[in-house]
Amino acid sequence: MKTDLQKLTFIILKPFILFIILSLSIFVFLSIQATTRRPPPAPDSTALPSDLKIRPGYSSYDSYLQRQLNKTLNPKLRHIWTTRDWDRKVSKFAQFFSDLQRRDLISNSSRSLCIGARVGQEVAALRRIGVENSVGIDLVPYPPLVIKGDFHHQPFVDGSFDFEFSNVFDHALYPWQFVGEIERTLARGGVCVLHVLLSRRADKYSANDLFSVKPLEEMFKKSELIEVRSIDGFGLDTEVVFRKIRN
Ligand SMILES: C[S@@+](CC[C@H](N)C(=O)[O-])C[C@H]1O[C@@H](n2cnc3c(N)ncnc32)[C@H](O)[C@@H]1O
Repeated sequence: MKTDLQKLTFIILKPFILFIILSLSIFVFLSIQATTRRPPPAPDSTALPSDLKIRPGYSSYDSYLQRQLNKTLNPKLRHIWTTRDWDRKVSKFAQFFSDLQRRDLISNSSRSLCIGARVGQEVAALRRIGVENSVGIDLVPYPPLVIKGDFHHQPFVDGSFDFEFSNVFDHALYPWQFVGEIERTLARGGVCVLHVLLSRRADKYSANDLFSVKPLEEMFKKSELIEVRSIDGFGLDTEVVFRKIRN
């Protein structure tokens, strides 16, 4: 009789116990998500350079990430990027990087990072010209070329790279943080090359608009500006090169 009572108690309590375990797991999961997606601190807006405008309309860091992911995760586009577009883009990136090689801004032994590399065409280009130690980061990984990482919080220790490339400055909601992370993970003497758009507003996925090189010069506090030149780079018109000169 007593055993039957115990059995009955267990049958009644089982759903409650399962409910509590499930709720706790969901709570822990959401807490981890919230921690990894916490936005960087908001800046003092009066401190922003005048030739750099942050686009309004992002109600939270999550809404910014969601907008970026909408395009990056699109299966049809991912198919095109990894098939039809692949060779054309890798070849063009390879030309840009070979040019930098000729100007001694990157060498085959450079530890290299491509920021916002999507499916990694620029990483493939670096490897094609002999810069083997190259990797990309993006919100969505594409192994083995691209690992998961938010450029506002690069997943690398200080001084990890000799060369960093990015053509996604306009996607930074916190450009000063984007630049701060580059300067943190570049080794002293390392080179950062940005392809940016100065002549008009970028597309609807951009989070900021840049109208001159001046804001970049102000944000790269530990670096010197080495070169600015016009390019024709997948809709971007200017190549800007910085060298980190102090820690
Ligand atoms: C215009 S695409 C450029 C892709 C690539 N560099 C190319 O030229 O093919 C912008 C990329 O930036 C990535 N992105 C946007 N915000 C990011 C963030 N906070 N951290 C890392 N990547 C981000 C997007 O996922 C997208 O893949």
